[in-house]
Amino acid sequence: MTTPLSPKKRYAIVGTGSRSMMFRKAILKTYADTCELVALCDINPLRMQAWQKEDGLDLPTYAPDDFEKMIETEKVDAVIVTTIDRTHHTYLCRAMEAGCDVITEKPMTVDVEKCEQILEVQKRTGKKLTVTFNYRYAPRNSKVKELLQSGLIGTVTSVHFEWLLDTQHGADYFRRWHRDKRNSGGLMVHKSTHHFDLVNWWLDSAPQTVMAMGDLRFYGRENAENRGEPRSYVRGTGDERVNGDPFALDLSKEEELKNLYYDCESADGYLRDQNVFGDGISIEDDIGVMVRYDNKAVMTYHLVAFAPWEGYRVGFNGTKGRLEIDVTEKAYVSGSEGDHNLSRNVKGGSTHEVLEPTTLLYRPHWGEPQKIELDETNTGGHGGADQILLEDVFSQTPPADPLKRAAGHMDGALSILTGIAANRSMATGLPVNIAELMPSL
Ligand SMILES: NC(=O)c1ccc[n+]([C@@H]2O[C@H](COP(=O)([O-])OP(=O)(O)OC[C@H]3O[C@@H](n4cnc5c(N)ncnc54)[C@H](O)[C@@H]3O)[C@@H](O)[C@H]2O)c1
Repeated sequence: MTTPLSPKKRYAIVGTGSRSMMFRKAILKTYADTCELVALCDINPLRMQAWQKEDGLDLPTYAPDDFEKMIETEKVDAVIVTTIDRTHHTYLCRAMEAGCDVITEKPMTVDVEKCEQILEVQKRTGKKLTVTFNYRYAPRNSKVKELLQSGLIGTVTSVHFEWLLDTQHGADYFRRWHRDKRNSGGLMVHKSTHHFDLVNWWLDSAPQTVMAMGDLRFYGRENAENRGEPRSYVRGTGDERVNGDPFALDLSKEEELKNLYYDCESADGYLRDQNVFGDGISIEDDIGVMVRYDNKAVMTYHLVAFAPWEGYRVGFNGTKGRLEIDVTEKAYVSGSEGDHNLSRNVKGGSTHEVLEPTTLLYRPHWGEPQKIELDETNTGGHGGADQILLEDVFSQTPPADPLKRAAGHMDGALSILTGIAANRSMATGLPVNIAELMPSL
């Protein structure tokens, strides 16, 4: 606990789903001496109530129409936005217009028009907009930044980046609101915003040209039928046709999922357990992207959402050698602490995890490869990243930031533009120039 330097900062959270619980715990526990949670806003009043039970809270709750009233009545200093992606811009802009700083979950938003709106309001109001890019804070990813910044491998000329989502975590995007591209921008925006942000930050550069190809190849009704594996159920809860299908999620079997989603369905009709082999999926699950950066580096990137293991591999080719990172991640479903494991529910008891230590390897020209030691003792959410990020966000005396990990509105914009351009390229079959995609940038 730190010594208070000024009155407690008053926070409101909009969007009381699973991810927002990480922020609730930070404010109520770790940063309780300097921060206060004063109000909640969500479209679902039942979820706002259920969300408070675990910590015995009784906070004032507001419907979206009363968002400005909430800020005024509860004297809110800063708003944390953890709603579904396509609504982020609404709350970011309304909060900044009402005089608040904002902290938003990634992606900052899902399309160019909304991004332009956010940047215009931020510029006019001068308010602080923080995007919580937790992956930057994972000690292993920070180490990569430190090594590249030190010039260890010289000028980086190219990056080869592969990200695998496994059939537990990857499948979850096809059960939830993310499966509709209008909500999430597809995985290129919703998920890859993390990865594209890492590369912008690692290289200290910005995307210039993007070319992508991808499709829905595994999930969805048509793919399952073509493989001769159709599933007729609509949702994973309460349907005997599920019959042990490891892809089906039964909300009634996990307390948090039951309380937060299943028991709250009557208020908004949202089903969090839809059949991943059903209709209505408009996002891709297997995508290849090529990006040219301002500093001339070229990245080849691939995302697949139905892999047998979860993790990532990145190779940086430089004028003095090569740096390689190889990470196996803990798979999970939902998003609160990052690694809380609901896999029992999904896979009926086995997680199929082989947790291998991260490998970070420096290969100099003409020399022996050198293994770089990493401190992996922090086992918190997202490889220990969430805890360090929260310190940066909530502490009144945040640690020094020589690696420039704290991300603002421009980082938020640049990271989604690669994904938005990839979506456009997939639709047109043509390369997309970022400057033409968003001339105002
Ligand atoms: N950084 C990370 O690692 C990470 C992990 C998980 C989620 N996230 C992000 O957090 C955000 C929330 O994700 P989640 O997994 O908690 O989703 P969720 O579905 O559990 O929660 C979303 C909440 O938003 C509410 N909502 C929907 N439309 C709304 C509207 N118009 N106005 C107000 N509230 C509305 C829903 O009722 C729900 O309570 C997303 O932007 C997601 O990308 C980030």
